[in-house]
Amino acid sequence: MVSLPDSTSPAPVAVTLPIDANRRLLNRYRFLEHEIMQVLAGWMPALGHFETKCEVGRTIWECALHVNALYLRLREIQSPAFQRPDDAAFVRLAAELRHAPDEHALVRGIYRVVLPALIKALSDHETATFPNSDLPSVYAIKHALLDLRSQQERVLPLLTAAEAEGAGSAAATAWERYVQALLDASGGVSGTGPRAAAPTPPPERQEFTPPREAARDARFTNRGADFAVMPPEEDYRAHTIEEFERYSTEMLAAETVAVVLYGLRDMPWEFQFDSARHLYDEVRHCLMGYEWMRRNGLDPFQSPQYLQVFRWRCQFPPVMQYCMLTMGNEVHAFPYRHRRVEAHEKSGDRLSEQFVRYDIADETQHVRFGHRWLPEMLRHIGEKRSVDTYTADALKVWESQYRSGKLPLNVE
Ligand SMILES: [Fe+2]
Ligand SMILES: [Fe+2]
Repeated sequence: MVSLPDSTSPAPVAVTLPIDANRRLLNRYRFLEHEIMQVLAGWMPALGHFETKCEVGRTIWECALHVNALYLRLREIQSPAFQRPDDAAFVRLAAELRHAPDEHALVRGIYRVVLPALIKALSDHETATFPNSDLPSVYAIKHALLDLRSQQERVLPLLTAAEAEGAGSAAATAWERYVQALLDASGGVSGTGPRAAAPTPPPERQEFTPPREAARDARFTNRGADFAVMPPEEDYRAHTIEEFERYSTEMLAAETVAVVLYGLRDMPWEFQFDSARHLYDEVRHCLMGYEWMRRNGLDPFQSPQYLQVFRWRCQFPPVMQYCMLTMGNEVHAFPYRHRRVEAHEKSGDRLSEQFVRYDIADETQHVRFGHRWLPEMLRHIGEKRSVDTYTADALKVWESQYRSGKLPLNVE
């Protein structure tokens, strides 16, 4: 039998974070990361600096994981789970982030101002709440902090290096100050700090319009080359080089998913969650191509970038881009990928075999996402055609314009 301490009046408990305040705070973190994820997806194709673009892809996915963890917790303590915070200044901060004057300013505003403030708020929250009663929140916060702090460690050196090379424009400095002022006007991420007056936007502010061109930094010199005919698969070495060079251009697929994610940001959360993963998978496929090429003494920055593919896709609405990507490029890639696994096995090329098998695992999920979300998307945009008819019509365009002539099959 457990014996209780001999006391009739237990020590008073300092209730630093009552459940209603807790709920309001968790909702603010969820909202902020959700908005950052969408803003970064909107901007991603327009980011030129390669390493930053890859990091942003990873942040989009990690933010999606945090939003999901907070959503799972919030739905236990508020209904509906997704709620816009009742704080105009905070909502304005999130809405303004996308109007940065240039990519450097965008990255500075998010990674140097907003995310460090979020880290501070989360780490305060972690110790302020009830460690046992609110353990599920503590768990989500601890894991988010691990990612957010690692992002800082990876991205801030990229910013410093870019500034050393002259990227730190006056516009970026003015923008960073503005983002800080917006944050101060909302009492910080928690909203509990003193509130400064609402700032007026600086003249450098640029109304955001989703990009219709994919940007690449100055290291890429071969931007719009036509697709060359690949060496035959029987020519193992020459074909394999081309195979992995094509992987290195899969940033194009990530950028298309980014367009879809931003363009359809009012689709259900589960779609956004799947698409954030889809997007980052394509960044990883691109990086897999980089790794392979570098291991083989090749320079991936010399690879043709086929930027016309992104421009071509952007003529079509996001749903059609998604349909052509998942039901065109991705569905049709499997027979070829399986032949490549066999060819790599036969040649004893373990690394290439493993890379392609991981790619097949990801691509299987992407096709599954396509089947899951296309019907929902068509309902969402009020499309009258059936899923089968819509897909068949989209694939006719894909076959006639992409797969033939100047835009033949580039497996993604
Ligand atoms: Fe894919
Ligand atoms: Fe891919």
